[in-house]
Amino acid sequence: MSDTYWVDGKYLPKDDVSISPLTHTFHYGLGVFEGVRSYEAKDGSVNIFRLKEHTERLLESANITGIEVEYDYADLFDAQIQVVKKSNLKNAYIRPLLYIGSERLGLDIEGIDSHAMVTCWEWPSYFGEDALEKGIDVMVSSFTRQFPNSLMTKSKISGGYVNGIMAHDQAKKNGYQEAILLDTNGFIAEGSGQNIFIVKDNVLLTPSLNCCLNGITRRSVIQFANDEGIEVVERNITRDELYTADEIFFCGTAVEITPIRSIDKKEICNGKRGEMTTLIQTKYLDVVRGKSESYQDWLTRV
Ligand SMILES: Cc1ncc(COP(=O)(O)O)c(C=O)c1O
Repeated sequence: MSDTYWVDGKYLPKDDVSISPLTHTFHYGLGVFEGVRSYEAKDGSVNIFRLKEHTERLLESANITGIEVEYDYADLFDAQIQVVKKSNLKNAYIRPLLYIGSERLGLDIEGIDSHAMVTCWEWPSYFGEDALEKGIDVMVSSFTRQFPNSLMTKSKISGGYVNGIMAHDQAKKNGYQEAILLDTNGFIAEGSGQNIFIVKDNVLLTPSLNCCLNGITRRSVIQFANDEGIEVVERNITRDELYTADEIFFCGTAVEITPIRSIDKKEICNGKRGEMTTLIQTKYLDVVRGKSESYQDWLTRV
């Protein structure tokens, strides 16, 4: 963990940060957050990947949920850069969080102060060392992704993650590494905390944005595919299309591009990382690590 936090406009050492157990967000889950990564480039510089888009989505999440934020885009953008700089970490996972204070509990949030914090830490491999190469085993969850009109799926709402945590926990307890959630109509939605792509006959398919987060990695994958001349189709995907896919991968800031080697014990791509997955993964890792001449405008120098 970094020793530095940015809390309500001030940089504080970790030990000086405390929050009340009566913090509203603890009780009811009304908070919004982001997960952002920085990477070390070959020349030793450190860059944050798509900080602009993450900061925009953080503020969109606040707007969707009605959290009034005292800090503007520039404050939040800069705080993320400074927290990484002060941490001296190179490959950092950055967590901005907007949350509600402890003045009063109850569901009426009028007049309760909102707060903002940013910190970062090292989180090198979400699914363990080998996952990027060897892939992971996944199950289709018995938990359904929330209906978009109950918990807004375009925002990263703290309380919404209970759904993903329960699905993930169920998967782990059943011997899998991750869960795929269906939406309320039975179509594929996403992983517990990542978007999903399948490859069929050289076409990349991904669920349309009805019931999943508008992932920033998802957008990057679509951009790579467009630039490589690979056809991308966003549409409803059925569970049996997973079983008959040529390749499947998860994508997200935390998991990067992680191949899926089996679903519900059915092997995908002979249990190996497929060609298209390898291509997209290589492109992604080259770009985030500043090795690519293209997409430089996605990187913010720390
Ligand atoms: C539910 C959910 N879906 C998808 C993603 C992937 O989004 P991104 O690529 O912006 O990290 C995340 C991670 O933020 C997530 O929490």
